[in-house]
Amino acid sequence: MNAPDVAVVGGGVIGLAIAWRCAQRGLRVTVHDPDPGSGASSVAAGMLAPVTEAHFGEEPLLRLALAAARGWPEFAAELSEAAGEPLGYRTDGTLLVAYTDDDLREIQRLHRFYESLGLPAEPLTGREARSLVPLLAPRIRGGMVASGDHQVDPRRLSRALLRAVARAGVSVLRQRVERLADLAAGRVVLAAGCWAGQLADLPVRPVKGQVLRLRTPGPPEFRLTVRALAGARPVYLVPRDDGEVVVGATMEERGYDVSVTVGGVYELLRAAMDVLPEVGEYQLVETCAGLRPGTPDNAPLLGVTADPRLIAATGHHRQGILLTPVTADAITELLVTGSPPELIAAFDPQRFRRVSVEVGE
Ligand code: GLY
Repeated sequence: MNAPDVAVVGGGVIGLAIAWRCAQRGLRVTVHDPDPGSGASSVAAGMLAPVTEAHFGEEPLLRLALAAARGWPEFAAELSEAAGEPLGYRTDGTLLVAYTDDDLREIQRLHRFYESLGLPAEPLTGREARSLVPLLAPRIRGGMVASGDHQVDPRRLSRALLRAVARAGVSVLRQRVERLADLAAGRVVLAAGCWAGQLADLPVRPVKGQVLRLRTPGPPEFRLTVRALAGARPVYLVPRDDGEVVVGATMEERGYDVSVTVGGVYELLRAAMDVLPEVGEYQLVETCAGLRPGTPDNAPLLGVTADPRLIAATGHHRQGILLTPVTADAITELLVTGSPPELIAAFDPQRFRRVSVEVGE
């Protein structure tokens, strides 16, 4: 085969979506990954949550996240049509609740922050929260609902993307890339999540998240994603139609360690059961840990690197699933036209390099 136009390193949802979009624009594409769809993509809970994942000081990321959320319905429809299978995309909204009075004060502070940014979230009393999710513990103090924060099943998303890329003529090569220089492609897109920092000079680090998968015999008796602060411990529970409930997640700076620990599982289950006692009746079917690709400002690295042949598409940290379609569209636009769309201007992979040069001077 002649050298492809684009070699995508990393077959998680970001790499596969970029490959799919590039192939749709007529580029010849290969994807390189020993186990496509594994890694962080298979651990993620799949929350599409621009509001309840918004953090103080991350406004540029919020703009990207909101644009991503707006694009999700069309992306989900187009991809499930192309793959011939559903993604488990649901638009039931997200409830954020407080277990203690201190947790409630923190959620009220968050609500003021959301309001200052014009983000849609309605404050709720404990009674109002329980009317939305009757399984909530009676002592829940209150919270808020973000109706625009949705969810998708990341494992179905990976499967659908693998099918769609195959149908679009992308070659998926199940091999590990040791050196980017060995790839004979016009351009290389580095979408290797937290491993990107080992292949190129990029400031990406692994941020471990332990996640549990629970199961009920039928569909869970709650449809909204439930996020909570339970005695200052953050936890989320994401229900799926097929009976799965994903509980997450720890945030740990432990390098490339993906061990599941007794303490991690205990803390997640304790917080989940404080908020939704019914969880104690569910089956615990899987425990796993994934590595989020974190960056110094926890925003992604999207665009041309110091090596003009190399394009970064990594560093999505807690928002990889949400940012998949918008990343794929922007990186494809960059590859096809040679210029990055305005939407990703704030995420130049070289932004930290400039800071260190200025500080060093
Ligand atoms: N997006 C949720 C997490 O990273 O745990």
